[in-house]
Amino acid sequence: MSNKGTGLRLAKRLDEVGFSDIVQIRNKVMAIRASGETVHMLHGGEPYFETPEPIKYSAIKALVENHTHYAPSSGISMLRLALSAKLIVKNKIMATPAQVIATVGGSQALYAAFQSVLDPGDDALVFSPYWTPIADLIRGCQARPLLLPTATARRNGIGATLAQFATPNTRCIYYNTPQNPSGVVFTKAEAEEVAAFAIERDLVVVADEAYEDLVYEGEHFSIASLPGMAERTITCFTFSKSYGMTGWRGGYAVAGEPFMTALRKIVLYSTNGVPTFVQHAMLQALHTPEAEIDARREEYRKRRDLLVAGLNSVGLDCEAPAGAFYAFPNVEKINKISRTAAETLLEKAHIATIPGSVFGAQGEGHLRFGYAISIPEIEACVDALKAFLG
Ligand SMILES: Cc1ncc(COP(=O)(O)O)c(C=O)c1O
Repeated sequence: MSNKGTGLRLAKRLDEVGFSDIVQIRNKVMAIRASGETVHMLHGGEPYFETPEPIKYSAIKALVENHTHYAPSSGISMLRLALSAKLIVKNKIMATPAQVIATVGGSQALYAAFQSVLDPGDDALVFSPYWTPIADLIRGCQARPLLLPTATARRNGIGATLAQFATPNTRCIYYNTPQNPSGVVFTKAEAEEVAAFAIERDLVVVADEAYEDLVYEGEHFSIASLPGMAERTITCFTFSKSYGMTGWRGGYAVAGEPFMTALRKIVLYSTNGVPTFVQHAMLQALHTPEAEIDARREEYRKRRDLLVAGLNSVGLDCEAPAGAFYAFPNVEKINKISRTAAETLLEKAHIATIPGSVFGAQGEGHLRFGYAISIPEIEACVDALKAFLG
């Protein structure tokens, strides 16, 4: 048959979409461990603690009470009410429950945000290094990520750097604070610069505040709380990092119209909402005392200080990251090519990390070490580093 197979091709919108390098590295580490070898696991991004008991029991209770039916696809009303209260008090984002939507992790919120804003041929400004999936989410809209170096922007002026990289087709700015992988926490003054640029150029901001509770230096500031920004910002949050809930897939987004209607359509036609009993667990998580979140932040701070001191002691230059739970040292001492440096470290010292280049060209020469692990695990990693490089 002459045209056999011509229909068996992917939709073009997936042509430029990659499959996460991080997942591929995770698979390689699992293979090494399966062969019985020890690996120091610093490649991940999962909290060191288990989901707190009250959250787990609230899900069990919800199941027993038969909260196992369809819920409103944008989220149960009690949850949206509690989320709007949280956003008002903690983030100073004056959101009504109608401006909030529950999503399957922060990932679905980000997916829906870019799908709502970007048309084929549009451009999106992304501070780089950036969380790897972002470029793929943008390319999945047949749009183009424009990477601007965060370090240069902070040195030379955020507004001037945004202006330098923007094109006539630019529609949005991806604004992540605290940042994965660099741990950068943008200040309020920097948020104001991004906001001024977005307003001047009539752009949308997709804000990613997955690590809002993990700021060690300075304070977390939500860009949507600035005057004139609530209507042009889609802010995405997750329960994964603050509450040790990575596997629950709970997240949410806050936005005004017309974006909220678009987010609702995308959530409706992709997952038809978040599992009902998970929404009950999310509601319980929002009742976590702030003191508990503060105590965990201090636990992370100990881990950060231990790892950063260890890295610097073997000559891997590393500034203490202001937020999130990753260290991002310069590893040119091992190899200038971060992929090779990561392979060397994995093979010779059994330390699993993520090459900086997967977070954009601006991450080259660095490795990401995730320190959301136990203190003995960090100590063992530092010992292995010293044995290899010391
Ligand atoms: C910067 C950033 N945003 C969003 C997410 C999404 O997390 P999740 O889909 O688990 O909610 C992550 C997870 O690693 C992240 O690092």
